[in-house]
Order: sequence, then C-alpha cells, then structure tokens
Amino acid sequence: MKNAVILFGSPRKRGNTAELARAVSTALQAKGWGVRTLYLNDMNIRPCQGCYACLPGGVCKIQDDMKDVRKYIMESDLVVYATPIYWFGPSGQLKLAMDRSIAFMDENFVSRLKGKMAITLTTFGDEHIDSCQPAIDMFTKTFALLNIAYAGQVNAPGCQPQGGIGSQYIDQAKLLADSIA
Ligand SMILES: Cc1cc2nc3c(=O)[nH]c(=O)nc-3n(C[C@H](O)[C@H](O)[C@H](O)COP(=O)(O)O)c2cc1C
Repeated sequence: MKNAVILFGSPRKRGNTAELARAVSTALQAKGWGVRTLYLNDMNIRPCQGCYACLPGGVCKIQDDMKDVRKYIMESDLVVYATPIYWFGPSGQLKLAMDRSIAFMDENFVSRLKGKMAITLTTFGDEHIDSCQPAIDMFTKTFALLNIAYAGQVNAPGCQPQGGIGSQYIDQAKLLADSIA
C-alpha cells in the first residue's frame, strides 16, 4: 500500500485549506492509499536551533513532536504541504516543520528523502494568483534540495475566511490526487 502524509498548516480545521486537503485525502483513499493528516497547529514543534547536530544521524536534539512528523514522512511516498498563505509565504506552523526538515539532510547535504513526491495546496484571500508565488518559489527550491519530486500544486485565490473556496479548486485537488494515485 502507498502512503501519504498531509502536513496541515492551517489552524482552522474547517477552513479553506481543509477543503483542499480533504479532497486530496478522499481521492487518495479511494485508490487504496493510506493517508495520515498531521494537524501541525496541535503539535509541539519547536523552532530549529541551527546547531546542525542532526546532520550525521538524522536525529534532532530537540525532543518534541517533530519526531512524529519525521516518522510519517519517512514512511510516506507522498508528502502533501497544505497551507493558507500568510504574508505571501506558508503559515508559521508549516514553516516550523520545514525548517526542522534540515534533519533530512546528511553531513554532505545529501537528502534522505530521495524518491519521494510532494504536492502543495495553498489558499489565499487575494484574487491575484501571484500572491502565492513567493511560497511556490520556496517550495520549488526546497523540494529540489530535498531531492523530492514536485508532482503538482493547487493554488486557490479569493478565499476569504468566511467566504469559502471556489468549487473548481476542490475539483483541481481531486484531479491532482487522481493523477498521482
Ligand atoms: C495572518 C494572516 C496573513 C494572511 N496573509 C495573506 C496574504 O499574504 N495574501 C493573501 O492573499 N491572503 C492572506 N491571508 C488570507 C488567508 O490566506 C486566506 O483567508 C486563507 O484561505 C485562510 O485559510 P484557512 O481557511 O485554512 O484558515 C492571510 C490571513 C491571515 C490570518
């Protein structure tokens, strides 16, 4: 069985980002995938301390819930980065986990994640699609360094807190998951 882990970066479990994540999760599960959603906002993930102690063995000195994030990423074929856009980037909840992903590198900066895939799901209030571009650039460069294949993205503009998300973006998320599964 193939596995996916959703790094869910929104604090709102019933918000716009959740709708995209649910569409992906449902579509993957329908094809027999195991899907685990990690609600990062509920987890204790401390900021990276920049000590590089993790590089040789892949084990961070900070003992917190990042060990679970690491375990599920290592067990997964696909990592789904799902986030609202906060100030043109990912949410702080997701950025903390991304910073801590330095532990996936070894001492020669060779990634331990080779062979995995990633997709990204973003929602944001602006009507202009380029509002998410800094985040997409960050994901693109990060996945290149982590040696994981960027298998697709859904970016949903016009997402107001109470206004909901356009159904076309939920359709796109389902299609993206179907194309991978
Ligand atoms: C702190 C904060 C920063 C935000 N920054 C942006 C932004 O830079 N660009 C934008 O278009 N929307 C921005 N938004 C709007 C959210 O990205 C948007 O409403 C999103 O769909 C919320 O996702 P959620 O429903 O999962 O919480 C921001 C919202 C908050 C709370």
